[in-house]
Amino acid sequence: MALMRIVHYPEPVLLTVGKPVGDGEFGADLERTVADMFDTMRDAGGVGLAAPQVGLSQRFFVMDVAKEGQPDPQVFINPEIMSVEGEQIGDEGCLSFPGLYQSVKRDMRVIVRAQDVKGELIERDLTDLAARCVLHETDHCDGIVFLDRMTALKRELAKRKIKHLQKTGKWE
Ligand code: NI
Repeated sequence: MALMRIVHYPEPVLLTVGKPVGDGEFGADLERTVADMFDTMRDAGGVGLAAPQVGLSQRFFVMDVAKEGQPDPQVFINPEIMSVEGEQIGDEGCLSFPGLYQSVKRDMRVIVRAQDVKGELIERDLTDLAARCVLHETDHCDGIVFLDRMTALKRELAKRKIKHLQKTGKWE
C-alpha cells in the first residue's frame, strides 16, 4: 500500500483543467496510480479522490460509495457528464478542504460516460450520493472545486473558516 500526498486548496493544480488520459497512457503505471489513489482515499476516509488532488493534472478519479456496507470501487477515466436530472441539497466535504463541510446543491441523477482502467468505454446511471460524488470529482478533473458550487454567502463563510483553520495549523 502506497499513500500519496493529498494537496490542499488553494494549490494551483486544484484550479487547473486536467489533461485527458491518452490511449497510450493506459497500462501498468496507470493501474498502479489508481490502486494507490484507492489506498489514499480510504486511508483519509473519503468516498472519492480525483487525480488533481494527488498532484496529477489529469482527468480521472476513483470513488467508492459503498452499497449496503459492501465496497463498490469504481474508476472513471476521461469522465463526461451526458445528462442530469433533478436536484439534491446536502452537506459535502472534500479531502482537499480538511475539516470543511458545507451544503451544496447538486443534480440528483447523472448519466456519465468514461473509460475504465483498461480503457474500455463505460456508462453509468447514478443517483443520490453516487451522483453527487461523480459531479464533485468530475469538477476536480476540470479544475473546479466545491467552493465554486456554493452560493456567494456560503462561499464567504467557507473562506473565513479556511482562514481560521489555516491560522490554527489545521490546514497545510
Ligand atoms: Ni473534492
